[in-house]
Amino acid sequence: MKVAVLGAAGGIGQALSLLLKTQLPAGSELSLYDIAPVTPGVAVDLSHIPTQVAIKGFAGEDPSPALEGADIVLISAGVARKPGMDRSDLFNINAGIVKNLIEKVAATCPKACIGIITNPVNTTVPIAAEVLKKAGVYDPAKLFGVTTLDVIRSETFIAEAKGLNPADIKLNVIGGHSGVTILPLLSQLEGISFTDEEIAAMTTRIQNAGTEVVEAKAGGGSATLSMGQAAARFCLSLVKAAQGEEVVECAYVDGGSEHAQFFAQPVRLGAQGVVEILPYGEVSEFEKQAIDGMLDTLHGDIEKGIEFV
Ligand code: NAI
Repeated sequence: MKVAVLGAAGGIGQALSLLLKTQLPAGSELSLYDIAPVTPGVAVDLSHIPTQVAIKGFAGEDPSPALEGADIVLISAGVARKPGMDRSDLFNINAGIVKNLIEKVAATCPKACIGIITNPVNTTVPIAAEVLKKAGVYDPAKLFGVTTLDVIRSETFIAEAKGLNPADIKLNVIGGHSGVTILPLLSQLEGISFTDEEIAAMTTRIQNAGTEVVEAKAGGGSATLSMGQAAARFCLSLVKAAQGEEVVECAYVDGGSEHAQFFAQPVRLGAQGVVEILPYGEVSEFEKQAIDGMLDTLHGDIEKGIEFV
């Protein structure tokens, strides 16, 4: 399979490309693109790692050469948050970047699965959908907002709090990817009990975990290494699914929810992207209220993306 990373010279892009170079199955191809002139050098650097994954890097204004024949396109191109910024503050710059890149995807590899990492994900994914519709190549089963970072953060924080192995924690994180729209379904964790206070505190920590990193990096950017890991996990799940394995991941997708046009929830993946959008199951009263409380924000974020295109 061929995987293209757009924004590959950035903090996320480099971490993600390293993980994919070491973890994609033998025979895969990795194609790195970024406007930064260093990108072919990043590919040369990674090419010295002894795996059977071919790698090429492309810089400049046109991503098309990097996209030719791509089966999966991961987009982390754009600007990241600084302290005091909300994800929605990134809209003005990142909306245009995602729009332009998706136009090239539509023209060059319209059948690829697309994972959008660039924030604000709640809005950049609807932008991508509208651009693909305009080009007449939209397949909702192949467009994903990558929310896996919310899932791995939840696994980590819950394991830490309860003295467990994070590998044993499996949970759904639903809604969107910003503040109150991020909802970990803690009530569904089998064999782990929380007090009401613990649930409220853990939910808030997971929702604000991105800001925790932004503040700790003190102006040096947002999550890059953990996001690289999250995006690699999501990409490798798409690859495994394409090879016939049964894989379920949470992602922000189109059309599976009564709550909003785009909603993060568990999806069963297959060779052609989403095979089935799964129900997220029973929720507690606290979670039900959290869903009701996020919808105005989520609808507004989605509308903003549709209007932009
Ligand atoms: P970064 O600034 O380190 O890297 C961004 C890269 O994009 C740079 O190398 C830049 O040259 C490149 N770029 C800018 N415009 C481009 C264009 N038109 N075409 C190709 N490349 C272009 O930023 P970082 O930390 O890698 O973050 C990237 C994005 O990911 C940000 O929008 C950030 O908010 C988002 N993010 C998303 C997360 C998620 O959970 N979905 C988590 C963390 C960050």
